[in-house]
Order: sequence, then C-alpha cells, then structure tokens
Amino acid sequence: MIIITGATGQLGQQVIAALRQHLPADQIVASVRDTAKATRHLGDDIQVRTGDFDHPENLETTFRDAAQVLIVSVDKVGKAATDLHHAAIRAARAVGAGRILYTSHQGARLHSPFTADHDHALTEQFLAEGTTPFTALRHGFYAESALHMVGSGLRKGELRVPEDGPISWTARADLAAADAAILAQAGRIDGISPPLTGTKAYTMADLARLASEESGRDIRHVTVTDEEWLAATEARGVPTVYARMLLGTFLAARRGDFNVVDPSLANLIGRPPLGMRKILRDFLREPQGEAH
Ligand SMILES: NC(=O)c1ccc[n+]([C@@H]2O[C@H](COP(=O)([O-])OP(=O)(O)OC[C@H]3O[C@@H](n4cnc5c(N)ncnc54)[C@H](OP(=O)(O)O)[C@@H]3O)[C@@H](O)[C@H]2O)c1
Repeated sequence: MIIITGATGQLGQQVIAALRQHLPADQIVASVRDTAKATRHLGDDIQVRTGDFDHPENLETTFRDAAQVLIVSVDKVGKAATDLHHAAIRAARAVGAGRILYTSHQGARLHSPFTADHDHALTEQFLAEGTTPFTALRHGFYAESALHMVGSGLRKGELRVPEDGPISWTARADLAAADAAILAQAGRIDGISPPLTGTKAYTMADLARLASEESGRDIRHVTVTDEEWLAATEARGVPTVYARMLLGTFLAARRGDFNVVDPSLANLIGRPPLGMRKILRDFLREPQGEAH
C-alpha cells in the first residue's frame, strides 16, 4: 500500500489524482483528518483511513501494511510542525514501512530566516537518523504562494515588497505529478532529492514585468523597508507570526536561498514544468480567481 497523508489538502489531492495514472486505486490509501471531506474530494474507490498527527497513538493503524508513506508537511511552523512530522515518522517506522517520503522544501536549511525551512531541515535530519529508507522531496516554492503573496498587488498595478531575490517558483500540480512518479518507482530517489523546481528563477521585479506584459497594463515594482511591509501586511489582518514568516521568504530569497533551478522535475514528469508566465496569465485573466 502507498499511504498519502494530507490527502484532503491541495497537494495531497493532486498527488492521489496523479498516482492513479501510475497505479491501480486499490494500492492507494488516503490518510485524512476528516472523512466527510475525503468523501467530497476523493473518489469512492480510494481506501480512506483516519489519521491525525496530533493523535499519534492511532497512526500505526492508519499506516498498517505501508510499503511507502508520503508524509505531507502540515500547515504549521516551528515546534508545532516538527513535533507532528516526527510523530508521523515514528509511526511509519513502527509499522515497518518500506520507505518514508516527506514533503520538504528547496530552501531547507538550519537557521534559515524562512522558519519553515529550518523546520524542514530538522525533519530531514530526523529522517536521516533512522534506518528506514527515506526520500525528502525538496519541493520548489509553490507558484501559488507567489500569487498568494503578491497577487492582489499585481491586480492593483503595484507590488510594494521588501528587497528580494530570485525564486524558482514551481506549480503545485507539477510537484504532485513528480511526487507520484517517485512513489510509483519506489527508491528512484533515495535521501534528499535534488531541488524539484521550475526552469527559471524570478525576482519580484521580474514578476511585475511579466504581469505587465501579460495584462498590457503598467504594473510597478516598489521596494519598501521590511518594517513598512510588515506593518502593511499586519494591517491587512495577517497574524504577526505569519507576517514574520512571510518576511522570512524575502530575507532568505535576498541571500539567494531559492535561486536554484534543476532539471529533475521536468525529467520526472516527462515535460517542461508550467512556466510562471502562463501561471500569471491564467491568474490575471480570472479577475475573481483566488490565489491559494
Ligand atoms: N513548497 C512550497 O512552497 C509550500 C508552500 C506552502 C506550503 N507548503 C507545505 O506543503 C504542505 C502541503 O501543501 P498544500 O497546499 O496541500 O497545503 P494544505 O492544502 O493546507 O494541506 C495541508 C494538509 O495537512 C493536513 N494536516 C494539517 N494538520 C494535520 C495533522 N495534525 N495531522 C494530519 N494531517 C494534517 C491538512 O489536513 P486537512 O485537510 O484535514 O486540513 C491538509 O490536508 C503545506 O501544509 C505546507 O507544509 C509548501
């Protein structure tokens, strides 16, 4: 069995859809917190098991008969995240899973100013300390995150952002397809994966230029201080902890942490990854569309 956690999340749903292209549905198990949500989002031919990393005492039942467990990282930061990830890894080890896969990040490194990347590095370390074979999937930065961060500015015609650096934005759907390809050929990537990224890295100024070209409007890029950006972001109702985490994206990008491109993603999915120009074009053509 291949067990996918976070199966009702955006990535997890797309991994399951992509995995269906490789394997019969009866080899796939969805691990979810909310079975009603699973019924709404997954086909009725996929076995659904309840699994909440907050209740590790039940996870050995969730993960039974696992040849591979894909642990999709949770939407939390700091110790709250690493404790949950480590609990899920311990349970996968306890049931004798053949391989543990974990959705890490291209910028994973200890003490990164982007705190999620410090957390990912800790979990990669924890995986490496065990004897169970593992694959840490170093996902590129979601292109959808770029839209979430600056999509409204692109629509309004002005990006007011702190000093940044190039980021190899990557479509979530491409990452899901790559994860499925790796799961379908167990062991194809052992240990820490190469960065699974789009083919080009873009600065915020590049995004403003691309969006200008695609929309035919002048979209300005203005660099503001970190403090000004934090204050404006908090004023929009973003909780301080998340505003600071988002600022960490700029701090890490500024020093080049996300300025890497690699052909592995394209090789895994057998086609060029979705480009940022196309992603921006689609976004700008859907005025009511929501960026996630
Ligand atoms: N590569 C990147 O640039 C990037 C960007 C943003 C996020 N991420 C990471 O990638 C992950 C997946 O992305 P996504 O877009 O699919 O996010 P998402 O839609 O928020 O999915 C997160 C999943 O984690 C599950 N989850 C949360 N807490 C859990 C717990 N205690 N036990 C078990 N499952 C739990 C959620 O369950 P429910 O469905 O029940 O809520 C959900 O299915 C995110 O959670 C985040 O860690 C990566």
